[in-house]
Amino acid sequence: MILMEQRTLGRTGRDVSVVGQGTWQLGGDWGEVEESDAFDVLDAAVDSGVTLFDTADVYGDGRSEQLIGRYLKNRPDADIFVATKMGRRADQLPENYVLDNFLTWNDRSRANLGTDTLDLVQLHCPPTAVYSSDAVYDALDTLVDEQRIAAYAVSVETCAEALTAIARPGVASVQIILNPFRLKPLDEVLPAAAAAGVGIIARVPLASGLLSGKYTKDTVFGPDDHRTYNRHGEAFDQGETFSGIDYTTGIEAAAEFAELAPEGATPAQTALRWIIQQPGVTSVIPGARSVEQARANAAAAALPPLPRSTLDAVRELYDRSIRAEVHGRW
Ligand SMILES: NC(=O)c1ccc[n+]([C@@H]2O[C@H](COP(=O)([O-])OP(=O)(O)OC[C@H]3O[C@@H](n4cnc5c(N)ncnc54)[C@H](OP(=O)(O)O)[C@@H]3O)[C@@H](O)[C@H]2O)c1
Repeated sequence: MILMEQRTLGRTGRDVSVVGQGTWQLGGDWGEVEESDAFDVLDAAVDSGVTLFDTADVYGDGRSEQLIGRYLKNRPDADIFVATKMGRRADQLPENYVLDNFLTWNDRSRANLGTDTLDLVQLHCPPTAVYSSDAVYDALDTLVDEQRIAAYAVSVETCAEALTAIARPGVASVQIILNPFRLKPLDEVLPAAAAAGVGIIARVPLASGLLSGKYTKDTVFGPDDHRTYNRHGEAFDQGETFSGIDYTTGIEAAAEFAELAPEGATPAQTALRWIIQQPGVTSVIPGARSVEQARANAAAAALPPLPRSTLDAVRELYDRSIRAEVHGRW
């Protein structure tokens, strides 16, 4: 097993690898995945030093959690921190974010993952009002008191939601979209999280694969892949698909981004390296779909830091091509 740099995930006090493994792909919304293929991807990540898995109770309606639960039973040697999510098994209304529902969702996730105490549960992009509700945090504190969860966190859509959550003393970490095509969290969210001792998990780090530079205007995604059916936010927040960027704008900007990759690194690895060197970031969770992708993503942790000139070039590309589409919205 390769050793990877570890960082403390905010107020959980637990160390996790700087490159984790997103597992939305293993549940659904990206097309069918065989169980043995999913296990091969997880094995590749773990053997490459990954110690953080991100999942949710709704990925494949629980399949992603169940796969992880079964996988971890067979890998007692792997000391994996599992960050799951809850909150999207009911209508997205603030009144559904109550203790009774939390208990039901928590029972299901604990059964899926085969554990009494979840390492971390993140509120899964709830309605904005939920982040300001004292009752919600009281209910989450109850789950901690009852040792159903070791810690709680939030996964947010907007920087404003992140800042509201960071101000709460029990919030251990914030999961947010951060990548070379999503720079707004650098302005206020990362400094506020660092000051408060709150961890940052960077999701959608490859802008749904765009930043690999491998797609063209002729690329066709599967009918059951959200990159086909959610480009305009038809099924869930548009920001989750290609980071909310128009596809044509995205492939053109991705071609320019690819030019910034240093020798020996792919554009995807360059994007991951860029993320993990932003002050305040704890871990990045690319959604590898194959063994090769899992290994390549983990290897980004060992790349040398990108030089100032590359950071400046990323900023210039963002300001020129991307900012107008995303900065004011999320
Ligand atoms: N609301 C939330 O809380 C929320 C929302 C979204 C995601 N997430 C979490 O964040 C994780 C990551 O986000 P994401 O999966 O949406 O987006 P992502 O990591 O930006 O993109 C994943 C896609 O990038 C491509 N890819 C991955 N590794 C690659 C590599 N080494 N080289 C080339 N291409 C590569 C694959 O595309 P191909 O399939 O085309 O090869 C893969 O399907 C998810 O798995 C999930 O755990 C959470």
